[in-house]
Amino acid sequence: MIYLNGEFMPIEKAFIPGLDRGFIFGDGVYEVIPVYSRLPFRLGGHLERLQASLDSIRLHNPHAEDKWRQLIGRLIELNEPEDQSLYLQVTRGVARRDHAFPATTTPTVFLMSNPLLPPTANQIENGVGAITAPDNRWLRCDVKSTALLPNVLLRQLAIDAGCAETLLLRDGQLTEGAASNAFVVSNGIILAPPKSNLMLPGITYDLVLELAEANDVAYEVRNITETEMAKADEIWITSSSREILPITTLNGKPVGGGRPGPVFQRMHGLYQEYKAQVMRAATA
Ligand code: PDD
Repeated sequence: MIYLNGEFMPIEKAFIPGLDRGFIFGDGVYEVIPVYSRLPFRLGGHLERLQASLDSIRLHNPHAEDKWRQLIGRLIELNEPEDQSLYLQVTRGVARRDHAFPATTTPTVFLMSNPLLPPTANQIENGVGAITAPDNRWLRCDVKSTALLPNVLLRQLAIDAGCAETLLLRDGQLTEGAASNAFVVSNGIILAPPKSNLMLPGITYDLVLELAEANDVAYEVRNITETEMAKADEIWITSSSREILPITTLNGKPVGGGRPGPVFQRMHGLYQEYKAQVMRAATA
């Protein structure tokens, strides 16, 4: 079941007009929210980021926070899996094709749910491969825009190389992954690229740094060079669907010892504990 402009319906019944600006221009923004045991995880953060994305593209938020929470709650109920990946998208609606905004806008609001597919036990145990590529995206990567062609092409480079993600370099520095944030561990310290217009402010990124802070795991938020990546003890990626995932080969060479490292193990444990705690609190 999905939600489209005021109605819940089976996905087969959902049609978007050909003139929707999301379809014509990629003129819209989106969120992906993980749902564990039917509870949306860090929903407040996702709704705040949605507001920031909408503000950036000068599109009025069609719903107050309560209404979003209500729609999301209902959609979770209407879908079977206990763990879901909830997708929501808002576009600038339907209008005759013209780059300029239409005089009046009725945004298109679309929500869907897919089964959540977190990393497999094998991926956690052994890690996955990544490659690097120049970050050739625009200069507003902080906006969660549905215009994802560069990200699509960059992710495909990884797939073509038999890898799971492409890590992006701009002016010799790590920005993020094609659809994830990236962390490096060097001399036991977690390094995180600083938030800027060059990367998406990840909800999982925030949580990792929050957990590091709360548990006295050393970290620094600063620029990371390509050379530091090549010499890293550990590299991980994070996202709402992949949680924390260790990268054990980069461009075909082992990262550190070529196995998920101790700092990853620690953060992965803290992340799973935190999730369990949030779910216990919600059901208590
Ligand atoms: N992508 N950076 C980019 C470019 C992303 O697309 C994503 C997530 C992230 C991680 O953000 P978060 O931790 O809030 O999920 C970083 C989602 C999952 C997607 O497009 O499917």
